[in-house]
Amino acid sequence: MKTLRSVAELRAALNGPRRAGRSIGVVPTMGALHEGHLSLIRRARTSCDEVVVSLFVNPTQFDEPGDLIAYPRDEARDAALAAEAGADILFAPPPAEVYPRGFATTVTVDGLSAPLEGEHRGAAHFAGVATVVTKLLNMVGPDVAFFGQKDAQQVAVIRRLVRDLDIPVRIEVGDTVREADGLALSSRNARLRVEDRRRALALRRGLQAVRACHAAGERDATILAAIGRAAMAALDVEPEYLELVTPDTFAPVTSVGDEQVLVAVAARVGDVRLIDNDILNGSR
Ligand code: PAF
Repeated sequence: MKTLRSVAELRAALNGPRRAGRSIGVVPTMGALHEGHLSLIRRARTSCDEVVVSLFVNPTQFDEPGDLIAYPRDEARDAALAAEAGADILFAPPPAEVYPRGFATTVTVDGLSAPLEGEHRGAAHFAGVATVVTKLLNMVGPDVAFFGQKDAQQVAVIRRLVRDLDIPVRIEVGDTVREADGLALSSRNARLRVEDRRRALALRRGLQAVRACHAAGERDATILAAIGRAAMAALDVEPEYLELVTPDTFAPVTSVGDEQVLVAVAARVGDVRLIDNDILNGSR
């Protein structure tokens, strides 16, 4: 695996394979790789000829300066893991390569970016994600880009910008990877205090309670959400939100019919903000 730092080097490395008709897959990451990322890299390895993993801690998507500072950075570890999972290229540009002096363009996805994560993290969050992902897709020019379902609203924003901006890439979404007890893997989990680790299960418990209540026949979204919140309260965790929405638009759902409904949850456990989600009526 090669580590490349500039867009010029990256394009030069991908020119040959592209001309030879080899397919290119990209797994965008901010590093701190865990099994969730590695499963996406392995999936890219099985379906694409060339696998690029990008590693860039994107400052513009952080709403809390402390979160950006505390974000774990260990490129040597990430490079070893990415190589082992099958990456051909690690694209790890410095900030000035992504945001050169005078950078003035922002991609915003209206509507979808506003609720839930947008409301709690601020409008700049998804603008930061949308802008950097648009840039990464333009830099790599992949046939397929891989993202994790844990960030369901991010996936919806990216699908929409790809469609709206006619970016010729297929988006593939990998299932959320979990610890044995059900906690969704996140680079933030490492920051949970020992006493908060058990409480962090509240998000999963809330989602499971909603699923069980739906399976028992409840269809009213307000009641389902209340059941989820009560299950979280049993672990002394109050969600920032626990809501039932349409997976593609993130519009609130009032009653669950036969269509897929995303149950999205976010909560602060100690100092750490966690998110998770589930899909009622089938997985995507
Ligand atoms: O999901 C992430 O790690 C980031 O939001 C992404 C997609 C790499 C953009 O910085």
